Amino acid sequence: MQTFNERVAVVTGGASGIGLGMARAFAGRGMKLVIADLDRAALDAAVAEFEGKGTAVLGQLCDVSKLEEVQALADRATEKFGAVHVLCNNAGVGIPTSACNLKLEDWKWILDVDLWGPIYGVKVFLPLIEAAGEGHINATSSMAGLIAGQMMGAYNVAKHGVVALMASTERELRARKSPVRASVLCPGPINTNISRHSVEFRPGRSKPRADGEKAGKLAGNIQAALEQGMDPDAVGELVADAIAAEKFWILTHPRWAKAAQNQLDALRDDQTLTKV
Ligand SMILES: NC(=O)c1ccc[n+]([C@@H]2O[C@H](COP(=O)([O-])OP(=O)(O)OC[C@H]3O[C@@H](n4cnc5c(N)ncnc54)[C@H](O)[C@@H]3O)[C@@H](O)[C@H]2O)c1
Repeated sequence: MQTFNERVAVVTGGASGIGLGMARAFAGRGMKLVIADLDRAALDAAVAEFEGKGTAVLGQLCDVSKLEEVQALADRATEKFGAVHVLCNNAGVGIPTSACNLKLEDWKWILDVDLWGPIYGVKVFLPLIEAAGEGHINATSSMAGLIAGQMMGAYNVAKHGVVALMASTERELRARKSPVRASVLCPGPINTNISRHSVEFRPGRSKPRADGEKAGKLAGNIQAALEQGMDPDAVGELVADAIAAEKFWILTHPRWAKAAQNQLDALRDDQTLTKV
């Protein structure tokens, strides 16, 4: 997509972290914004920030794991701005999760938000973006969508699914010569509050976890590591530039792709699972 000015961008999970960074990058290019989030206080703060800068903005409470709320988001966006040109399926949660010992309700929560959220986004918004005659649909996966490390079981499954969803979408769009492009963002560590937010949002958070103290400690370590990560506003700029350049893969830490390359090499050479 070449022209951003006066076009309409919808960003889920847009009230914080990477989503807020994307919204800032789009606003800086003259776009109108629809910010969707579960967190009312953060949403109000984000809307106030953009209104203060003179950006046309709609803030919409939305849980992306619920199809009817994603549909309502699309309806409100269209009522307010008449069209949608860009969707970033970015809302997500991430806590360390054992693939072997995780409770089924936690599997369901993570897959509902991190995978079904983007599936609903494509289902509801892609026809609208195509009807606008130009645009782009993006989703936020992770390096965990390219290589499955330890103790991130449910997150790995969801994020691999997001990569597959967007690659399948882009191939179909190209095959039918659609003016719309798709892409996937696979960030490495970014300085956001995702670990803290995810602990707060987890349904049944007062109950002990089946995968126990090890996962709880790991969540604290991950949050500390993220504080050394990339600035989310820089990620937003990267995404806007990649959309303009019609790139499919958007990587914040491309050298980390080496782990995925090593696994592909082993797949060809001796079919072993590499260490991660
Ligand atoms: N921070 C990182 O290092 C990192 C790395 C790789 C991938 N990611 C991915 O980036 C995306 C954004 O995460 P972030 O790091 O900016 O975290 P963040 O917690 O700062 O932002 C996520 C936003 O999503 C919202 N949200 C959570 N569940 C929601 C739901 N069901 N419906 C609507 N909104 C919801 C939260 O309220 C929050 O505002 C996620 O998909 C995450 O998996 C983050």
